[in-house]
Amino acid sequence: MMDLAQRVAEAADLVTVALDELLPRADGPESRLTEAMRYAALGPGKRLRTFFALETGRMFDLDEGSVLRAACALECIHAYSLVHDDLPCMDDDDVRRGRPTVHKAYDEMTAVLAGDALQAAAFEILSHPDTHSDGHVRAELVARLALASGARGMVGGQMIDMLGVREDLGGVARMQRLKTGALIACAFELPLVIAHAQEGERHALMNFAHDLGLAYQIVDDLLDAEGESESMGKAVGKDVAKGKANFVTLLGVDAARERLGLLKTQTKSHLDPFGPRADFLRASVDFVLERRH
Ligand code: IPE
Ligand code: IPE
Ligand code: MG
Ligand code: MG
Ligand code: MG
Repeated sequence: MMDLAQRVAEAADLVTVALDELLPRADGPESRLTEAMRYAALGPGKRLRTFFALETGRMFDLDEGSVLRAACALECIHAYSLVHDDLPCMDDDDVRRGRPTVHKAYDEMTAVLAGDALQAAAFEILSHPDTHSDGHVRAELVARLALASGARGMVGGQMIDMLGVREDLGGVARMQRLKTGALIACAFELPLVIAHAQEGERHALMNFAHDLGLAYQIVDDLLDAEGESESMGKAVGKDVAKGKANFVTLLGVDAARERLGLLKTQTKSHLDPFGPRADFLRASVDFVLERRH
């Protein structure tokens, strides 16, 4: 069994090479836009959504090329969400993935446009016949990604976050499901669509994705409270400084850790129906929970 960290690194390399090929290049003045898109999407992200998608694809013996294109689309949406999230009108951050944010490396208007164009690129990639020969499958993939990205998914969650209108854990949990949970769940959903998976399998994996996304966000909040900006490659301590309610500001560090411990067992239990086929996904739970950046 190949070591998990190596498998994550391999997934990251695969998606970065594929994105490099798929993202547009330009000669004219719009080259500033395409360069900024590449800067955002090809930077050193952890590529966890890609890893989840590829591992799910392997579990169902899917064509890797199809799943990799779906992963490229996910990473484009994710990169766009980060470019916009870092803008002065949102979180106002200068550093991302250990480098200047897009509006610092370029400027604000370029960052807005690069985010817009990355979003469009995601759907261009997903809807292309190379992703899947069956147009119905492609339409379903597009619909799922659109739902996870828009007002009922990531963007809706960002709105709740920016408004700061959540005082209790229920509110924070709902925000998380939309803001980060939806796109993480999509990393499992897209391969499930390609696999024509049975309802039972779909259900189990969606429950897994739900708990994994929650664990992911609790870790993000813990790292915001306790991490070092250098190793994180982004600013830390911002939620506390801005008086934002998140899992850690509401629960405290110790209770948040305790919750993570319980969540770990619960998350893995959703994979029971898949048996040893899900070993890498099972191990990825520890990987997500123990991440340091
Ligand atoms: C950061 O996402 C923002 C959240 C959704 C919590 P990641 O932690 O996946 O960021 P990268 O892609 O590795 O930079
Ligand atoms: C941003 O959440 C999530 C999205 C971009 C959808 P955060 O604002 O907590 O992410 P970081 O901490 O800046 O990476
Ligand atoms: Mg934010
Ligand atoms: Mg942010
Ligand atoms: Mg954060």
